[in-house]
Amino acid sequence: MKKYRSYFRPEIDAMSGYTPGEQPKVMDLLKLNTNENPYPPCPAVLDGLKNADGERLRLYPDPTADKLRDTIAEVYGYERENIIVSNGSDDMLTIAFRAFTDAERSVAFLDPTYSLYPVLADLQGCQYIKIPLKEDFSISNDLLEKAAPANLLVITRPNAPTGNNIAIDDMRKICSGFDGVVLIDEAYADFSADNCIGFVREFPNVIVSRTVSKSYSLAGLRLGFAIACPELIEGMMKVKDSYNVNMLTQYLAELAIRDQEYFSKTVAKITASRAKLTSELKALDFEVVDSQSNFLFAAPPDGDGEKLFKALREQNIIVRYFPGESTGKYIRITIGTEEQLQRLVDFLKK
Ligand SMILES: Cc1ncc(COP(=O)(O)O)c(C=O)c1O
Repeated sequence: MKKYRSYFRPEIDAMSGYTPGEQPKVMDLLKLNTNENPYPPCPAVLDGLKNADGERLRLYPDPTADKLRDTIAEVYGYERENIIVSNGSDDMLTIAFRAFTDAERSVAFLDPTYSLYPVLADLQGCQYIKIPLKEDFSISNDLLEKAAPANLLVITRPNAPTGNNIAIDDMRKICSGFDGVVLIDEAYADFSADNCIGFVREFPNVIVSRTVSKSYSLAGLRLGFAIACPELIEGMMKVKDSYNVNMLTQYLAELAIRDQEYFSKTVAKITASRAKLTSELKALDFEVVDSQSNFLFAAPPDGDGEKLFKALREQNIIVRYFPGESTGKYIRITIGTEEQLQRLVDFLKK
């Protein structure tokens, strides 16, 4: 047999790939590490699963998911032409990177932020510009100056893993001052006091990306959607895989998005638990970043995030730790149920 040589593009050989948060096989762990929703999906989705017409699976799904897009348009106050759907919002990010970046067209994003962005840039073979946040994770005045050479600017709002928001007025300045496309990754915006969905009416260069993974308790279903002007949507449609959202996902996501009452109740429970955990951690002298999302970024009094991460792991409590100069003090804790968070706090008190 011939000796193996690498057949990959050099960009692929040079990169190490995205590392997702741990998805443990053992179930008795307290899993507060990947920002899933601790509550079940709405009853209509559970019923829909039981009643789904399995015979139809021999057919391809609707490639443009029109019925689902109509539902999203109706609930979020736009038209079908303003909506594109994807296989989770990670797929939407891939579509955007493929559509707007290449060797000559770079991307800019915050630092720290969602660690998938540099991986997508490497895959696409585009340069990326990291825009450092200040020590308190707010933006610096020179954000636009730094982002200027890029064709795509990704702003994560609320940001991950920090959980805080850039002020709406600053967002408006960013969107009007940036010459390329601004993709606002609103994966966590349902837990936030405000959001940028309305910007799509104001700015022809803004894409707002959403997911049902967090606020609708459907991380396993895989559905993301984006809202933008019809021209941007039309172009992104050319880039997506033909059948990027499967038939069951189209059907079940529609049921979930229609049930806004259940959705609002679940989100309210999580934001109430977030407030409670924030004060409990502060009472234990933790430094807690003001969170607008379904997780907290919190630093223990000794500033050693890694040590606490490991100590919790020994107690079968998994949170997420991000090594690095600006993030190493902290751990990221997903907001779970009241009982789950009590178990965490009881251990921390010890
Ligand atoms: C900022 C951000 N964007 C997008 C995603 C992807 O979500 P999904 O692909 O489940 O829709 C995540 C997941 O954790 C995230 O943190």
